Amino acid sequence: MEHWDDFLAPYKQAVEELKVKLKGMRKQFLREDTHSPIEFVTGRVKPIVSILDKAIQKEIPLDKLETQMQDIAGLRMMCQFVDDIKKVVKLLRQRNDFEIVEERDYISHNKASGYRSYHMVIRYPVQTIHGEKKILVEIQIRTLAMNFWATIEHSLNYKYKGDFPKDIQHRLKRAAEAAFLLDEEMSKIRIEIQEAQRLFSRKKENQEQPD
Ligand code: GTP
Ligand code: MG
Repeated sequence: MEHWDDFLAPYKQAVEELKVKLKGMRKQFLREDTHSPIEFVTGRVKPIVSILDKAIQKEIPLDKLETQMQDIAGLRMMCQFVDDIKKVVKLLRQRNDFEIVEERDYISHNKASGYRSYHMVIRYPVQTIHGEKKILVEIQIRTLAMNFWATIEHSLNYKYKGDFPKDIQHRLKRAAEAAFLLDEEMSKIRIEIQEAQRLFSRKKENQEQPD
């Protein structure tokens, strides 16, 4: 493909716009002084080399990237608690600024690798000087523990190209179980954690306003 910059421009625009919008959801929760189900949001456009690697691996012709590669634009929403993921999904379903194409629940049905996350593929309209262009965007919603595991596994994947030595594979499985248990424990003490966080933010507020 000759014009990568032209091809990727609307994807970059979609990621930038959605980062502002999804981070804006967190800001609204904080302003209302309630627990935010969103801890932080990240976004990226897939690097060209990764697009090419995946196109070869999945046998996607380059002129079909727009419809057949769903994660050229990607957003991630990190949550403190597993229950927060459902809330975020509900909030995303209520929005009118994009259309949901597909949802994949790798939390109820985690992958063989041990990967857990909730995926949503959306069709997001970008306004260009040549009119509207609809872009596929993948949103991954996960807890901090799921994100920790996926980040480590992803970098190991990069090193071993998915062909993990047996002991590493075994350790990754155990780490996935540990991440799952961590999420479970945090859910159990969630009320206490949230109360502590409320007290902490109230204390901070008081310190900031001398009387
Ligand atoms: P891709 O070809 O990777 O898009 O797989 P897919 O079309 O079956 O979609 P899926 O929803 O399974 O995966 C999309 C994205 O989820 C990937 O690009 C990764 O970011 C993430 N993902 C899926 N499986 C794994 C996994 O086992 N480990 C890690 N670290 N990430 C994963
Ligand atoms: Mg995919």
